[in-house]
Amino acid sequence: MKKFMKGLLATTMVFAMMTSLVGCGGGSEAEAPADETATLVMATNAAFPPYEFYEGDAIVGIDAEIGAAIAEKLGMDFVIEDMEFDAIIPAVTSGKASFGMAGMTVTEERLQSVDFSDSYAKGVQVVIVAEGSAITSVDDLFAEGASNVIGVQTGTTGDLYSTWDLEDAGLATVERFNKGADAVLALTQGKVDCVVIDNEPAKEFVAANEGLVILDTEYAVEDYAICFAKDSELTAQVNGALQELIADGTVQAIIDTYISAE
Ligand code: ARG
Repeated sequence: MKKFMKGLLATTMVFAMMTSLVGCGGGSEAEAPADETATLVMATNAAFPPYEFYEGDAIVGIDAEIGAAIAEKLGMDFVIEDMEFDAIIPAVTSGKASFGMAGMTVTEERLQSVDFSDSYAKGVQVVIVAEGSAITSVDDLFAEGASNVIGVQTGTTGDLYSTWDLEDAGLATVERFNKGADAVLALTQGKVDCVVIDNEPAKEFVAANEGLVILDTEYAVEDYAICFAKDSELTAQVNGALQELIADGTVQAIIDTYISAE
């Protein structure tokens, strides 16, 4: 509200207040160019089926569709920017993207740098192994004397947990890959002993590769949410739209088109 700081005449102030009361979609904030307020830019990493992945040249998936539905509800244009997973939070905090949506787990560490929306889905960190692996449960990873090579996608919670819980405790070596699929490829080639990754992509990667299984035991259960720059004006708007889309069943309908209930 820089206008108010400049000591304008009272009449001007009243006019400005009326304009903002009429609530013209954020147009009263002088610092944002009109087209910037009108376009929602979603930062994601489109290598994470069924949440975001390529179908030809198009990025599709649960997050892509929920993001588009939010933009539609807000009457804004919608653009998806694909980038490495660990570039998403920097893109959001620097203002290059309006928000980040990437099957992203709400964590204490991330809350230091971003705000999160309400959660729209649950995620589970699971362990993928080759059939017949000596690793048969999550507990095996924590066993005394364990020394597994664990494949993860860089910067994901699978990476963070494996690093803090296992590598730092001398129980494992963590191999970091740009994509979850690359970690899974390394597993099929025997270069890593297991992969720690979210359950839904895990199912897709296991279905696409022979000889892999997901362990029954869960490593961690998490909440997925949309991240925003701290104190962004968009948070309340986007979260409001998300809440409506959850309440009217749109979010569940989108999830159901990508994930069949077992
Ligand atoms: N849920 C995990 C996390 O937040 C992994 C998310 C990976 N998402 C992606 N689009 N690659 O760290």
